[in-house]
Amino acid sequence: MPSLKLLLAVLPFALGAPTPHDKRASKPTVTIASPEATIVGSTGSNLDTFNGIPFALPPTGSRRLKPPQAISTSLGAVQATGTPPGLSAIPNYSQQISNAGEDCLTLNVVRPSSVTPDSALPVLVWIYGGGFEFGSTSMYNADSLVSASVDSGMPIIFVAMNYRLGGFGGDPDKVTIWGESAGSISVFDQMALYDGDHSYNGAPLFRGAIMDSGSITPADPVDCPKGQAVYDAVVKAAGCSESEDTLKCLRDLDYTTFLNAANSVPSIFSYSSIGLSYLPRPDGKILTQSPEVLAERGLFADVPFIVGDQEDEGTIFALKQSNITTEAEVVDYLRDYMFGDASQEQLKDLVANYADIATDGSPFRTGLANNWYPQFKRLAAILGDVFFIFNRRVLLNVAAKVKSHVPSWSYLASYDHGTPYLGTFHASDIVQVFEGIYDNYAAKSIRTYYYSFVYDLDPNSRAGNYMEWPQWSANKTLMNFYKDHAVLLTDDFREDAGEFFQANIGSFRG
Ligand SMILES: *[C@@H]1O[C@H](CO)[C@@H](O)[C@H](O)[C@H]1NC(C)=O
Ligand SMILES: *[C@@H]1O[C@H](CO)[C@@H](O)[C@H](O)[C@H]1NC(C)=O
Ligand SMILES: *[C@@H]1O[C@H](CO)[C@@H](O)[C@H](O)[C@H]1NC(C)=O
Repeated sequence: MPSLKLLLAVLPFALGAPTPHDKRASKPTVTIASPEATIVGSTGSNLDTFNGIPFALPPTGSRRLKPPQAISTSLGAVQATGTPPGLSAIPNYSQQISNAGEDCLTLNVVRPSSVTPDSALPVLVWIYGGGFEFGSTSMYNADSLVSASVDSGMPIIFVAMNYRLGGFGGDPDKVTIWGESAGSISVFDQMALYDGDHSYNGAPLFRGAIMDSGSITPADPVDCPKGQAVYDAVVKAAGCSESEDTLKCLRDLDYTTFLNAANSVPSIFSYSSIGLSYLPRPDGKILTQSPEVLAERGLFADVPFIVGDQEDEGTIFALKQSNITTEAEVVDYLRDYMFGDASQEQLKDLVANYADIATDGSPFRTGLANNWYPQFKRLAAILGDVFFIFNRRVLLNVAAKVKSHVPSWSYLASYDHGTPYLGTFHASDIVQVFEGIYDNYAAKSIRTYYYSFVYDLDPNSRAGNYMEWPQWSANKTLMNFYKDHAVLLTDDFREDAGEFFQANIGSFRG
C-alpha cells in the first residue's frame, strides 16, 4: 500500500509558487523548500509534465521491506523531463511483476500550462492497480484526462505515485484520492489507516475519495498462516531459509535475486487468480483491523466518496480454471485458493446462490452464451461479487448507517456489455475513462462527474446537462453507465447472495 503521508508531506511544498522564471523558461521549473529541490519539467501544447520526482528515500539496501523514509537532504536539480512513456492502453500483462527497478518511489505531475501560483486548482491523486503485484505510473498517460478537464472548464492537477509491489499552483486542501483495483483498495485503506485519522501536521491529507473496482477487501492479519506461507516461500526461493535472520538475508540480496524470489509465489495471472499472494494486511498498528471491521465501526475518514464497479468484475479472473467442471469443484477451489477461513457449509451456501449459469452467470445478462468452460460463468460471477461488487455494497450499507452525514455515490459500468466472454470486465474503465480512448457518453459523462466531484465534492454540481446522480443511500441507487447513455438502477441485484455475503463477510478474508 502506498505511503500517502509521505507523498503529501512533499506535495504542499511542491505546490509552492513557481520561480519568477517559470513563465519565461522554455522548461517549466518549480522550486520547493523541503526537501530543497529545483524540479525541471517539460511542456507540451497545453500541459506541463514533471516525471519521476522522488518523494522518499530509495527503499533499497537496509531500507528494503521497511516503510518509506522521508528525504531530509537537498535534492538539488531534479530533471523530471523523462518523456512520458508511450500510451499504454492495455498494460503489458506478460510482465508478471513490474520491474521498474527497486528505487521507484517517485511521483508524476501533469498540470495545465496556464496554471498560476494563485490558481489553487484541486488536485487528483491517482493510485494505479495491478493486484499489488505489477503496475507503475508510466503505464498511465494522463494527458487526455487533464486536457479534457481544461476543456470542461474544470482544470485539475493530476498527481500519480509509484509504490512498491512489491509547484504546481495546486491547493493541498483540495486533494481527492482516486484508484482502480488494487489502487482502489488502497484508497479505502488510506481512509482507514490509523483508525480513520487522515490528518497530517494537523490538516487532512485529502478531502474526497474515488474508488473504481475495489474497497473493503477483508484480510487476515500479517502473521496469518497464508501470509507466513508466502513469506516462507520467498525466503526459501531466495536461499535464505538457513539464515538466522531471514529478513536481513532478504535485505542483503542483490535486487534481481530478491525480485525473482518475490516473484516465485503465485501471481494474479496464475491458477489461484485473485487469491492474491500480496495483500495489504492488518498489522494492528497502522491498519488496526481487517477493513470490513474498520468500516463497520466507522473507523474511516469522514470524506465524501464515489465507489463503483464494472458489471463483470470476475470474468478476467476466471479464465485459467478450465478444469473446474462441477459445482463441488467450485466450492473446493474457493476453499483451497481463496477463503481458508470459511467453513464448507458457508462455501456451499455461497455457491448455491449461483444455481443457474444462464441467469446467475457472468458475463451477466447473456443467457447460455459465453460459458467458456462448464463452470466459467458461475466462477466469474462469484469472484466478481465477493471480491468487488458485494464489498462495495457492504461499504455503502455500513457507511449509510455509521456515517449517514457523509455523502456517497455509486455506479455500475455496463459499457462493454456484449463483449464475448468478458462483458464489462475488470479494468476496462482504464481504457474507457482514464485514457479516454473512446469519445463516448460513458467517458465524457464519467469524467465530468469526477471533475465536478474533485471541485465540489459533488458529482452533480458542475455536471451541466448530464443526468442527476442521486446519492446511494436514500434508495440504494446506482448510476448504470452504458456507452451512449446511463440509467438509474437499484443496487439490489443478486440480493440473496449479497445478504449472505454481508452476514458472513468476516469468514471471507483473503
Ligand atoms: C512485455 O514485457 C515483456 C517482458 O518484459 C517484453 O518481452 C515484451 O516485449 C513486452 N511486450 C510489449 C507488447 O510491450
Ligand atoms: C486443475 O488444475 C490445477 C492447476 O494445474 C490443479 O492444481 C488442480 O488440482 C486441478 N483441479 C481439478 C479439479 O482438476
Ligand atoms: C426514493 O424513492 C422514493 C419512492 O419511490 C421517491 O419518492 C424519492 O424521491 C426517492 N429519493 C431519491 C433521493 O431519489
